[in-house]
Amino acid sequence: MTDDTDAERSRDSVKARLIRFAASLRSRGYYRTLRRLHATLKPETYLEIGIRKGDSLALATTAAVAIGIDPAPILTRPTAPNAEVFAMTSDDFFAKCDVREELGGRDLDLAFIDGMHLFEYVIRDFANVERVSTPDTVVVLHDCLPIDALSAARDRTTALWTGDVWKAALVLRRYRPDLRLTVIDAPPSGLVIVQGLDPASRVLDENAEAILGEYAALGFDHWEQHRGEVLELVADLETALAGL
Ligand SMILES: C[S@@+](CC[C@H](N)C(=O)[O-])C[C@H]1O[C@@H](n2cnc3c(N)ncnc32)[C@H](O)[C@@H]1O
Repeated sequence: MTDDTDAERSRDSVKARLIRFAASLRSRGYYRTLRRLHATLKPETYLEIGIRKGDSLALATTAAVAIGIDPAPILTRPTAPNAEVFAMTSDDFFAKCDVREELGGRDLDLAFIDGMHLFEYVIRDFANVERVSTPDTVVVLHDCLPIDALSAARDRTTALWTGDVWKAALVLRRYRPDLRLTVIDAPPSGLVIVQGLDPASRVLDENAEAILGEYAALGFDHWEQHRGEVLELVADLETALAGL
């Protein structure tokens, strides 16, 4: 057996494991939680940041308007029936598009933030979404329960990469105690349901530099010391859905 063949086999088995992992997520992982959220809320309007193949966007089956934003979407199969995809970064989308107009003048019911996996992007995405929200809008953040130091680092070196998005939950707890956060331990890296939005709040914008300076350099040891602040918000799915 040549080294080349060994390398190919190893690549194949990694690919096979990733395919099996993706399939298990669809049945038991965070897609299951998102599916239940859609079934409970029946959103008429939906906005998703970071759509990749459109798998989570496809769950927006009740939405009359489903906006998907991603600079590099890979849509190889049909997604949500009323989806419109904006092939651009979320920063460009919020700078260039009139979100209310794109929503057809309707209020935003549900948003899912799963774009660039660095906490400052998530905070900025959240602030931009909140500006076009109502107090009844529900926002879901992905990846706030990190798996290990390597996949939770700012530099990407792993196939499954959550980045330092975990810091976003800590930032919201600290800077926005007025928001209601519920954490679902959905595999592989959790979902945070955010409620009680205030479209007039500018706290995150006004403190963006201070937040970046304070949190950017923090390592995984900070998560290990402070994860209790996030884990104390964990609720089981039924309890969380009952609270919506
Ligand atoms: C983890 S994938 C999204 C997966 C999808 N939400 C799902 O669950 O099926 C993250 C996506 O975010 C996109 N992305 C990266 N930077 C972004 C940005 N600045 N704005 C919006 N999307 C971004 C990537 O292109 C990638 O497709």
